[in-house]
Amino acid sequence: MIQIMTQRKQTVAHKKVTKESEAMSVMSGRDTAVSNPPKRRDRKQTAKLLTWVTHLGAWVPLAVLIAEYFTNNLGIDPVREILFHTGTTALVLLVLSLAVTPVNIVFGWKQVIPLRRPLGLYAFMYVCLHLLTFLGLDYGFDLSFIVDGIVEQPFVLVGTAAFLLLVPLAITSTKGWQKRLGKQWKTLHKLSYLIIVLALIHFIWLVKNVYIEPGIYAGIVGLLFLARWNPVKQKLLRWQRQIRTRLKNS
Ligand code: HEM
Repeated sequence: MIQIMTQRKQTVAHKKVTKESEAMSVMSGRDTAVSNPPKRRDRKQTAKLLTWVTHLGAWVPLAVLIAEYFTNNLGIDPVREILFHTGTTALVLLVLSLAVTPVNIVFGWKQVIPLRRPLGLYAFMYVCLHLLTFLGLDYGFDLSFIVDGIVEQPFVLVGTAAFLLLVPLAITSTKGWQKRLGKQWKTLHKLSYLIIVLALIHFIWLVKNVYIEPGIYAGIVGLLFLARWNPVKQKLLRWQRQIRTRLKNS
């Protein structure tokens, strides 16, 4: 009888501790061993680590550019070099943000999903620097000079269209806007497909003759689009499930 009572006391005490720790985890927003199974905790930790790597990695091209500027390593045409550097970084970040969903479809890595927003915002930051370089360093903010430059280089118009479409996406990228816009948010953010296509046209149009680099980007973007196409997406998801069950059983 005493043993049963002691056991009951222990169970009640354990339940109390569990409830208290769950309440604490909700309040603090942190996960505890009790509230989360180890797998989900690992996933959250990986997501956190990936977010840090993304933030650090996104500043590296700017740091390199600043270092090259102060060490006079930008070559004979520094403005052109800055345009290339910021343009390429923006394109890479746009492609990476587009790759988030396909990576989740192919590998089932949900941890990458939170990276989409910072990748998109950093891409926007580099496009702003790219545009400022063009307007300020290249054309000294002289409007008539800028208009002449655009007439001479029509690929700039395509780049400008991509930039203008990025603006509403950057503004509405917050959770508040996501809630406010509801279903329309998803529709609006589908503009990212058009943006990447415009960015590729901008690049292909400006390179003259050597199409290897823009061709590589276009190939990657094509594959990423393909992975999002429903028949291909379903097949990839089926493969992913089969591989996971095989790994679990082995
Ligand atoms: C989403 C927007 C944009 C992206 C992703 C982008 C990307 C690029 C890329 C990848 C390059 C070539 C880099 C290289 O050859 O290594 C480039 C060059 C260039 N971009 Fe953009 N760009 C964008 C918007 C703009 C805008 C808004 C302007 C100006 C209004 C602009 C003006 C230029 C110019 C002048 C060049 C250099 C052309 C040359 O001298 O050969 N771009 N851009």
